[in-house]
Amino acid sequence: MERTLVIVKPDGVCKKHVGDIIKRFEKEGFRLVALKMLHLNKKTAEGFYAVHKGKPFFEPFINFMVSAPCLIMVWESKYAVSRIREIIGNTNSSQAREGTLRKSYGTDNRRNLVHGSESKALAQVEISYFFEPGELHSYEGEDWDR
Ligand code: TYD
Ligand code: MG
Repeated sequence: MERTLVIVKPDGVCKKHVGDIIKRFEKEGFRLVALKMLHLNKKTAEGFYAVHKGKPFFEPFINFMVSAPCLIMVWESKYAVSRIREIIGNTNSSQAREGTLRKSYGTDNRRNLVHGSESKALAQVEISYFFEPGELHSYEGEDWDR
């Protein structure tokens, strides 16, 4: 079983797509493990995206990430990391495949609606960046094989 970190970015919250995004993941069979709403400060946003520090897009992107609250979630399923990346789509929303979340509701490669962990190893690091172990919930349910 895999767990992955998903962030609904400020554009998703402001454009009222939180429900669409949660609905999509529930429909696709993922299990919700944790959820919180946070208005990131610069330090937290820069720490989370530290690997991109120094790139030309970094500063405007961080300004966007602190411009409004985010929804931070953990979702679980057998192949949660890769499947959720597929459903999210290409970094640049305008180049994302039809049917992906970024294609449906994203704007460009900065305001791209949602974050999903890139690998199982990164998912663990990212989950512990935002959640204490006691905030991650385990329970029985259906459709765990995706
Ligand atoms: P990246 O890890 O390349 O994309 P992804 O979110 O698909 O894993 O980049 C992290 C975030 O940085 C990306 O979601 C949005 C922002 N970003 C920009 O603002 N401009 C850019 O040109 C790129 C490549 C990323
Ligand atoms: Mg990335």
